[in-house]
Amino acid sequence: MPHLTDHPTNGEFASPLLAWWEANGRRDLPWQNPRTPYRVWVSEVMLQQTQVATVVPYFVRFVQRFPDIEALAAAELDPVLHLWSGLGYYARARNLHRTARIVVREHAGGFPATAEEIEALPGIGRSTAAAIVAQAYDRRAPILDGNVKRVLARQHRVAGHITSAVTLAKLWKLADALTPQDRAADYTQAVMDLGATVCRRRPVCTVCPVRTTCQAYASGAVDRYPERATSRPKRLERRRFFVLTTPDGACFVEQRAPEGIWGGLWSPPERPADLSVETFLAHSGFDPGAVREIRAGTDLRHGFSHFDLVAEPIHVRLRTTPPEVRAPPESQESRGRWIVPGQHELGLSAVAAKLLDSITPERGPS
Ligand code: ADE
Repeated sequence: MPHLTDHPTNGEFASPLLAWWEANGRRDLPWQNPRTPYRVWVSEVMLQQTQVATVVPYFVRFVQRFPDIEALAAAELDPVLHLWSGLGYYARARNLHRTARIVVREHAGGFPATAEEIEALPGIGRSTAAAIVAQAYDRRAPILDGNVKRVLARQHRVAGHITSAVTLAKLWKLADALTPQDRAADYTQAVMDLGATVCRRRPVCTVCPVRTTCQAYASGAVDRYPERATSRPKRLERRRFFVLTTPDGACFVEQRAPEGIWGGLWSPPERPADLSVETFLAHSGFDPGAVREIRAGTDLRHGFSHFDLVAEPIHVRLRTTPPEVRAPPESQESRGRWIVPGQHELGLSAVAAKLLDSITPERGPS
């Protein structure tokens, strides 16, 4: 069992890593140019659990609409969730919006500059706070996100499940020891890029700049690190989605509770899989006499971290447009609204967006 003092000094690790990054790393990401604390913060929140390639277009649209923290703080939550639609983990968007208001109120709009203050903000953990400090202010702050855990567990053959407190404490110690004194922003990006592009779950060790100091590589055991708990098969949950449409192309959506999965997002009504159309209409106050056609759609499958959802669409075409469709949304008190796809600013879950996309326009009254 190697001892913690066996790890390479930070120069031995950081120098080849930085040289590799200069030639191969990502240096033209939108949040790097210009690199402001606001843009770094938004990008780091989007990058939690999400790959760079997915984040880039969301980031660009987000900062176009909300160029600074004051603009974000002044916005309602709906347009924020709208720009987050499809990115997943929507608590991140709600926390981002809350944080903008806290920063404008309590820090006079200046983004906090210390890891302690940043970590105190909603939804920001130790590693994200450090990544923001390093990249926004170019100050030394060790990070330990999922990518870096993998790199360091292999460099030093750190045994034990990656989620255990003992293992995490060892990894944080290593992260601190290997982080150089200067070039904080570059080093932080370099180590994350190495984890994302080379030291992947299936690593490409032949091109790795730090394989000469990698203990897992030396012992031919790269695929044994980091240790992961065996994952349980995900449960499957079936739910019915009632997609009500009007002759002029509007669709009925409801807002979900603020917390939990898809919190605050809008979706065609989601109900238990055994609920009949008749019961749904009766419970929701729709006139069954206004129904022109009922048709089952094709099931959609959506993976969450803990379960897989099977969404069973039931398309219900109404004969007439209910009166409130034409009223401005502000006038509606209920949790339900009629929206025309592509002409609204609400946040939709990925499943809701697919259901709305699947609506086919009517060919006129028959
Ligand atoms: N994951 C989290 N932050 C990241 C960043 N700045 N670059 C690449 N991957 C990341």
